[in-house]
Amino acid sequence: MIRFILNQQEISTALPAGTLLLDFIRYHKHQKGTKIGCREGDCGACTVLIGEIKDNKLFYSGATSCLMALGNAAGKHIVTIEGLNLAGLNAIQQAFSDEGATQCGFCTPGFIVSLAGFCMSKNVPAYDKAIEAVNGNICRCTGYKSIERAAQRINALMEKREKEDAITFAINMGIIPEYFSTIREKLSTLNAGEKEPVPAGNKFLGGGTDLYVQQHDSMPGEKINFLYGRADLKGIIKKDQTVEMGAATTVTEIADSPVFNEYFPSIKKYIHLVSSTQIRNMATVGGNFTNASPIGDLTVFFLALHARLILNEGNIKREVALKDFYKGYKTLDKTSGEYLEKIIFDLPAKDHLFNFEKVSKRTCLDIAGVNSAMLVSVKNGHVDRAFISAGGIGPIPTFLSKSSAFLVGKEISPEVISELLSIIKSEISPISDARGSATYKSLLLAQLIKAHFTVFFPAMLSQILTVQPV
Ligand code: FES
Ligand code: FES
Repeated sequence: MIRFILNQQEISTALPAGTLLLDFIRYHKHQKGTKIGCREGDCGACTVLIGEIKDNKLFYSGATSCLMALGNAAGKHIVTIEGLNLAGLNAIQQAFSDEGATQCGFCTPGFIVSLAGFCMSKNVPAYDKAIEAVNGNICRCTGYKSIERAAQRINALMEKREKEDAITFAINMGIIPEYFSTIREKLSTLNAGEKEPVPAGNKFLGGGTDLYVQQHDSMPGEKINFLYGRADLKGIIKKDQTVEMGAATTVTEIADSPVFNEYFPSIKKYIHLVSSTQIRNMATVGGNFTNASPIGDLTVFFLALHARLILNEGNIKREVALKDFYKGYKTLDKTSGEYLEKIIFDLPAKDHLFNFEKVSKRTCLDIAGVNSAMLVSVKNGHVDRAFISAGGIGPIPTFLSKSSAFLVGKEISPEVISELLSIIKSEISPISDARGSATYKSLLLAQLIKAHFTVFFPAMLSQILTVQPV
């Protein structure tokens, strides 16, 4: 049985654990406020809140229920728009009404739920955080200005919060119903004692944000081995100059990690380029690696850090370098019984230069046309170490070994960058597809490589811009 709380109701269901949460909510519980738009994580109409206890505190985050397995809801509080209703309009609904932020109304439940997540966040409220909360929600009617004004009103309300707990404040402000004050205890009771194990199948599942898009019809019938909620696959631990990260760590957890923020001060900017808030809250680093997309953002990021992977099959563990993990298009150095347990990488020296770039048709919620990361350290004016990676330029996410080796020992100049671009061109094999022609992708990567250098050496900006792609 899978047990969780849906709004105020305790759920215990024997449905297949791979059933979509969205379908359970709409077709089994007949709560139709959660809408079906794209069923691919792109529109946000199906957004729900996931409440869970971490470090003894109750946290809520937005998630797209169209990509979430019922098994991943186990032990959590799932909140739909129905669970946010008060006797009259709640404060978010009132702000939408006052600002004319709803027209056909199809997107509105998703926006309201996402903004309720912002209101319950432990972070200090700010307008940009309110907008960040809805960056995975699409509206085809309003033009967004009225929604932005509604978000401004909500943020103004939240800024009145002083030392109060966010959930208590949201209850007091008429944003969420009173019953939220009982959820922490109910979840503790639900999760106390021996957990009934969800039967482990042979299909490994992380957050589901990619697998449920690719294998939408078959996933509900699969026998799934759930990795997403496993505490032993969580955590980002620094040991001396090495980081060990559980494969079920989410993209949001990377963005919020003190270690990543210390060593990669622009981490939030990079992560902002990875899908949307709702997807980042669910997507795991292990899922990103093992789905083997040639343009996986995190894969390209960690390739430039020379990450290693620990694969686990029962009691047998082995280590493989991320750069050697991909054997061909969607082909991995991994047996069907192995799952990714851990990612390990060495922290670069504090004076290293690191940058991640991505080009896609829109900023949030889009897959890359081409992406690239570069790590460089410079000593006495010469490159001491260089790791360059790229995605979208061949069948696998690629570590550019020849190009990286070429840079070592060089003093950066327009001539060196020009030579580097021709070596890179010889190392890639882009194909023409829906995201662009092979020529376009090759040119795009050259521009991204130049972008890395403009970030690393801003004083050379005008010289770098004169370098012509080969
Ligand atoms: Fe569009 Fe879920 S239905 S994101
Ligand atoms: Fe119609 Fe947003 S109000 S899609």
